[in-house]
Amino acid sequence: MAMMTFPPAVSYGALRLRSRYLLSPLAGFTNMPFRRIVHEIGGVGLTTTDLVNARALLFQSPKTLELIETCEVESPFAVQIFGSDVGTMCEAAKLLEARGVDSIDINMGCPVRRIVANGSGASMMCRPDETLSLIRAIVEAVRIPVTVKMRLGWDATQLTAPFFAREFEQAGIAAVAIHGRTREQGFSGFVDRDGIRRVVDAVERIPIIGNGDVRTVADAEVMLRETGCHGVSIGRGALANPWIFRQLVEWETTGSFGPAGTFDDRLALMQRQFRYLAKRRGVESAIIGFRKMAHWYLKAMHVRAKLRHEFQLIRNPDGLDRYFEKLAAEGPVNGNRTGELPEMHIPVPSGPVERW
Ligand SMILES: Cc1cc2nc3c(=O)[nH]c(=O)nc-3n(C[C@H](O)[C@H](O)[C@H](O)COP(=O)(O)O)c2cc1C
Repeated sequence: MAMMTFPPAVSYGALRLRSRYLLSPLAGFTNMPFRRIVHEIGGVGLTTTDLVNARALLFQSPKTLELIETCEVESPFAVQIFGSDVGTMCEAAKLLEARGVDSIDINMGCPVRRIVANGSGASMMCRPDETLSLIRAIVEAVRIPVTVKMRLGWDATQLTAPFFAREFEQAGIAAVAIHGRTREQGFSGFVDRDGIRRVVDAVERIPIIGNGDVRTVADAEVMLRETGCHGVSIGRGALANPWIFRQLVEWETTGSFGPAGTFDDRLALMQRQFRYLAKRRGVESAIIGFRKMAHWYLKAMHVRAKLRHEFQLIRNPDGLDRYFEKLAAEGPVNGNRTGELPEMHIPVPSGPVERW
């Protein structure tokens, strides 16, 4: 890798992040147990919740309160909200500030039909005037930093992210994270790093966080170098390798970095994360709630397909104990237990963008 000059440390207003490498929100995955695990491993600059419905937050439904639950090790901590009603979004932001949240992120990137049809998520990029008034109102409603996560634009004919980033900076937004795809693209095709660079060039002071398809230190290096972004946020790559943040900080500070976890490390991590979830929800419910996550762990651990599938059939604590014993006895199909495992294939959410 070529020598790299790093941009200054990343701050959201007065909030100094722990590093420039952030965990991207992944609905259904980036719950508190996973965010806690990532902080415990170290290196992550900031973790953010999954997208939270601002209206549901005001009703304080138990599900929503679980989404915004945090723990001591998770600092700093951001909550991502979505919605299009100014009053509701401002009230939700104030509620979060009162609960001690460090930073609020506004979702303007979600392509899912349910969200977009409601005037939220990526569809906000189609209504600049309304969106700007909404953003101004939220920034005025709270003292903590407010950030925006968006895509390059609605489609290739409307690459409006640079415009929005400039306007947001004027409105007092503390940082912008940009996924280098359009809404229309969903997760297909490649991340457009020139597009991210144009967003970086459009602002004067605020940090721009580049996002999309970063799964290794080499990928992050390319993102930083080619776009000039100040920070990098990592979603799926962190599911495949929760050690990535620590590796990145090691690389930035020393020029080299240690390996990701071995099979045995991952098994221990998986069990720890499961325990955190079980503490919150009870074992029976955690077994079901952990299925999606287990799928990623087991793939990254190169567990044989049939055994991977067996996790999805576990019904009770005894079954879980037996499963972990079998897993520990069997080990990976490629590589070994104590060495570096081959990289896993990172899946793209399937189906049209409407579906996830
Ligand atoms: C299953 C899944 C759920 C996601 N949920 C959210 C979300 O709640 N909020 C958000 O801003 N982005 C969400 N995203 C987008 C990611 O944060 C990120 O922008 C995208 O996955 C590209 O980055 P990556 O290649 O590092 O994963 C989600 C992506 C996936 C795959």
